[in-house]
Amino acid sequence: MKLTSRSVSLVPIMATALAAALGAVLVVSAPANAATTLGAAAAQSGRYFGTAVAAGRLSDQTYVNILNTEFNMVTAENEMKWDATEPNRGQFNYSGGDRILNQAVGNGSRVRGHALLWHQQEPGWARSMEGSSLRQAMINHVTQVATHYRGKIYAWDVVNEAFADGGSGGRRDSNLQRTGNDWIEAAFRAARAADPAAKLCYNDYNTDGINPKSTGIYNMVRDFKARGVPIDCVGFQSHLTNNAPSDYRANLQRFADLGVEVQITELDIAGSNQANAYRDVTNACMAIRACTGITVWGIRDTDSWRTGENPLLFTGSGAKKPAYNAVLDALNAGGPGPTTTTTTTSNNPGPGGCTASVSLNQWNDGFVASVKVTAGSSALRGWRVTATLSNGTVTSSWSSNRSGNSGAVTFTNVDYNGSVPAGGSTEFGFQGTGSGAGLNPSCTAT
Ligand code: XIL
Repeated sequence: MKLTSRSVSLVPIMATALAAALGAVLVVSAPANAATTLGAAAAQSGRYFGTAVAAGRLSDQTYVNILNTEFNMVTAENEMKWDATEPNRGQFNYSGGDRILNQAVGNGSRVRGHALLWHQQEPGWARSMEGSSLRQAMINHVTQVATHYRGKIYAWDVVNEAFADGGSGGRRDSNLQRTGNDWIEAAFRAARAADPAAKLCYNDYNTDGINPKSTGIYNMVRDFKARGVPIDCVGFQSHLTNNAPSDYRANLQRFADLGVEVQITELDIAGSNQANAYRDVTNACMAIRACTGITVWGIRDTDSWRTGENPLLFTGSGAKKPAYNAVLDALNAGGPGPTTTTTTTSNNPGPGGCTASVSLNQWNDGFVASVKVTAGSSALRGWRVTATLSNGTVTSSWSSNRSGNSGAVTFTNVDYNGSVPAGGSTEFGFQGTGSGAGLNPSCTAT
């Protein structure tokens, strides 16, 4: 938020008048138009502010009041995990996840899906599996759950905590990992096929600064981007004590520079420096366009999984803590908006036709474009989109076949996304160097 010249010039006059009238200490309060809830404050810069929600607490009125007032993004704390959603092989249970999702949607919030594959909270039947049968079961799990929630999830944590702690920078050993090093990309591809609208994230902890673990993940994301494996975002859990690492922001920035969004996904901070650390983390996100939002891992200290550490923004009785005010102020202070998005739509939506619209994430010398193809009033059996790169070069693309990399570049459907029902849509994307301005995509049914 900017202080206008008018409000600046009024401040000394008002202060003098007030001091003269009251002989009082001047209390400088937030600007009159500062937002008063976390969600509204984050929304001023196009970001969200979320929390983890436990289905079992939705009957607690204090909890629900804070949830509905303060937050506009929700993550199920446990209810969308593998053990909850597929307790027996091939038998799915969405009761807890649906309850959280419906409550959130009813309150105008969006939902982060957490988590399709994780070596923890695997159901017992999966824990005892290995090799190709486990690979088949885990990919089926991704497909089924992402299909159930298709179109309703803002972003999925497709894979959670797959990297090892310590200096190796490599993968963590697990039965999932032992099915083959390509398990992560297989999961991302399955998730994209099941729900093309959800952003797909990799999520992990101890990745809050530049260290061997975060660098291992960085290298994976760079490789995925180069090979067209669908990945849109990286989640930084940020379970912290006292301080964020001094290179917290630089670490987020290097991921953003790969052309992925970054999200702070499970923030909680213990220790006596709590309010400062919360402010630092919020400021770091606000400073990075591609940091699209922050989620805290619970509402009140008594809701936290870190029992006794009081790492959250509200006390057990629901009062706002100093850390809450630090976060609210940092959100209100603004920062660059997230990802610059420009949308252009073109072409004939009539029978047999299609439209293409592009959402562009542009940074200094590169960009990622996400293109949505929407069928007109009859179904598509195939499509072709032409986009113009006047000052940029495509380095990779996904969910489409591409011809050319600069000038007029043509993208056609791949096997699995050529059929689009009447009025329905599908997405593909590409990234490149230089500028993605003026893409002006046009769509033709084939
Ligand atoms: C935690 C939940 O908060 C607890 O209720 C549960 O017993 C264990 O899992 N990283 C993650 C989260 O990705 O799913 C974890 O949530 C916390 C660590």
